[in-house]
Amino acid sequence: MADPASVLILNGPNLNMLGVREPEIYGHETLADIDAACKQKATALGLTVDFRQSNSEAELVTWIQQARDGQDAVVINAGALTHTSVALLDALSILEMPVIELHLSNIYAREDFRHRSFIAPAASGVICGFGALGYDLALDAVHRLLTEE
Ligand code: DQA
Repeated sequence: MADPASVLILNGPNLNMLGVREPEIYGHETLADIDAACKQKATALGLTVDFRQSNSEAELVTWIQQARDGQDAVVINAGALTHTSVALLDALSILEMPVIELHLSNIYAREDFRHRSFIAPAASGVICGFGALGYDLALDAVHRLLTEE
């Protein structure tokens, strides 16, 4: 049997603060809780996940570039870099694999500056507004995209 598909789940700036960060917007779950839930979900789907967080745009760009070497899909919650980063868009545009853009909050129901995503043109699809459930939904989407390929 082929190796299980590997999904890189990237989390950008301030997502390490989940649980204490504006819980009325982002919920009470910590990033460690979400990591554990993703690993459980991935096992159920026959996927493996590599779950990471960085506050550094440069580190995220490097990880996206490295995804070409062994990862089968990328799920990215780029945090505020979503709304500013041409560098992340350029890095994601290199990938020839499913890319899911993810946000815990519904960015379209918030401030105007959050309505614009720089990375959306490189995404296969976008999931936002479902809180931590969005990670679960993103793994379902990845699984479908990879098995329907
Ligand atoms: C976020 C939405 C962004 O606008 C914000 O800057 C974040 C988190 C979300 O998950 O809802 O850091 O990506």
